[in-house]
Amino acid sequence: MAGKFVCLADFENFARESLDTNASNYYNSGANNEQTLRDNVDAFRSYRLRPRFLRDVSRRDTTTTVLGELLDFPVALAPTAMQRMAHPDGEVASAKAAASMNTGMILSSWATSTIEEVAEAAPRGLRWFQLYVYKDRQVTRNLVERAEKAGYKAIFLTIDTPILGKRLEDTRNKFKLPAHLRLANFSEGDVRSSRVQSDSDSGLAAYVASLIDPSLSWEHVDWLRSVTKLPIILKGVLTAEVAREAVEHGVDGILVSNHGARQLDGVPATIDALREVASAVNGQVEVYLDGGVRTGTDVLKALALGARCVFVGRPVLWGLAYKGQEGVQEMLQMLKEEFSLSMALSGCSRVSAITPALVVHESYYQSSLGHASTKQQSKL
Ligand SMILES: Cc1cc2nc3c(=O)[nH]c(=O)nc-3n(C[C@H](O)[C@H](O)[C@H](O)COP(=O)(O)O)c2cc1C
Repeated sequence: MAGKFVCLADFENFARESLDTNASNYYNSGANNEQTLRDNVDAFRSYRLRPRFLRDVSRRDTTTTVLGELLDFPVALAPTAMQRMAHPDGEVASAKAAASMNTGMILSSWATSTIEEVAEAAPRGLRWFQLYVYKDRQVTRNLVERAEKAGYKAIFLTIDTPILGKRLEDTRNKFKLPAHLRLANFSEGDVRSSRVQSDSDSGLAAYVASLIDPSLSWEHVDWLRSVTKLPIILKGVLTAEVAREAVEHGVDGILVSNHGARQLDGVPATIDALREVASAVNGQVEVYLDGGVRTGTDVLKALALGARCVFVGRPVLWGLAYKGQEGVQEMLQMLKEEFSLSMALSGCSRVSAITPALVVHESYYQSSLGHASTKQQSKL
């Protein structure tokens, strides 16, 4: 049972109070007026669960697989950059926490710990690598080769960031990575690639504008396929069109994501986009979701609507800010217990019992009420 915290919002409140403005705003904010940021969380509330009682739920099996790898429960760690701003152990602590909970972690290209350091910290842990495509193709290729060599099991290619979204607080704060930290996957001497700072703008916006390839296209997906044997998952898919094209290009998985609402404001909440993507993919590749997952019932709803596994981003940073590795473990333990409880209360003893029939949009009840009242009226 998690210490004094009873829900993920408790972790969030703690982190918001304890982190400095530069880090807290970077971690918590979204793009522009944050419409999608609010929607990501709120949209989960617009789905209703239809529990099936009188099924034996005395034992629940929460395990699932991602590309054949076993996870104790269907919640893993999304890649978030610069975790050492939240805790001195940063990504190393997150990797240990994920491994101790028998789940996986996606390491960001922009981690403040190296690919190798994270692998050594949790050698038996399940790790994937998130890739940004640099203008310098060799830089990109080196990252992939290092991940492959260090035992990462797949590449999550982020497709929604040819240019950084406009994050108002980071622009106001002239966001920077504190001087004692660096983007660790680039050598210390390479100040351009390993430092994040600017005198006039968000340091990250300036970094992306100078180094990340804005010409990102399907050609890069094909190129990536030609340089690695690792499975490739596209991170950032929100439409059936892109999902179908991804399958045609031979990707191994799709992560429905809007980058935690930090890129294009006004895109749908991921839980709303999920059905469209899952039905276009029609089981040809695995589909996952991240964005706004904060409770066990959120996980249940995402699985019912077609995700095989969900990922959490900000909650990991909150856990780190609270108590490093232990804090991330407690956060994951809480989601695991909540998920198991929601399975029990909805009549599911296995993850495979979580089917689309378990969830309806709230309008289902509004329209059936409307129908009833029309009938009643016609009787009068
Ligand atoms: C502070 C922060 C940093 C992030 N850094 C990355 C990154 O380096 N690469 C990436 O693909 N996504 C990044 N993301 C997006 C997350 O992987 C994920 O899509 C998102 O956080 C999920 O939403 P949630 O925070 O509501 O769980 C970042 C998100 C946050 C909040």
